[in-house]
Amino acid sequence: MAGAAFALGVGGPAVLAPLSAHGDVTPQPVDTSKLPDIGAAWLKANPYRGNADAIKIGQSAYGQNCARCHGLDAISGGIAPDLRYLDKDDAGDEWFIQRFQHGSARDGKVYMPPMGEALGQKAGWAIRSWLDTKYDG
Ligand code: HEC
Repeated sequence: MAGAAFALGVGGPAVLAPLSAHGDVTPQPVDTSKLPDIGAAWLKANPYRGNADAIKIGQSAYGQNCARCHGLDAISGGIAPDLRYLDKDDAGDEWFIQRFQHGSARDGKVYMPPMGEALGQKAGWAIRSWLDTKYDG
């Protein structure tokens, strides 16, 4: 999908800033070749939980693809939800990967661009593995 597709008008709740304020939202590729293959079908629970390689890869992938909206080190500045508060483990996995894969759009406005196709689920679960280490419920 072209980056331009993300440049749709964004308004809505005041806490959400327009995407254009964040500059380039083109997903940055993530090298997940070190991680075990998990097939093409999207899983609902994190296959990499606690995996040290996944946590490391996820930290960097988060910094490149998510931090501009969700905040450095997962501490939100208010533009987007603070991901430290997502439910931990299985309870939050499915919701996490759903948002990662499809993003969020309402009434024709894009609040979060989809990431699944560009980054792949291995990168998604790596990010989730790192976020688990930041959990602050
Ligand atoms: C352009 C800004 C932007 C980027 C980049 C972005 N997000 Fe989001 N994200 C949002 C916004 C805004 C929401 C809230 C959406 C809504 O209210 O519908 C959100 C919601 C979420 C949620 C649901 C949170 C909740 O509490 O319900 C998850 C999980 C999430 N994002 C993960 C990610 C991950 C992982 C990345 C990086 C791969 C990422 N996001 C990149 C803006 C962004």
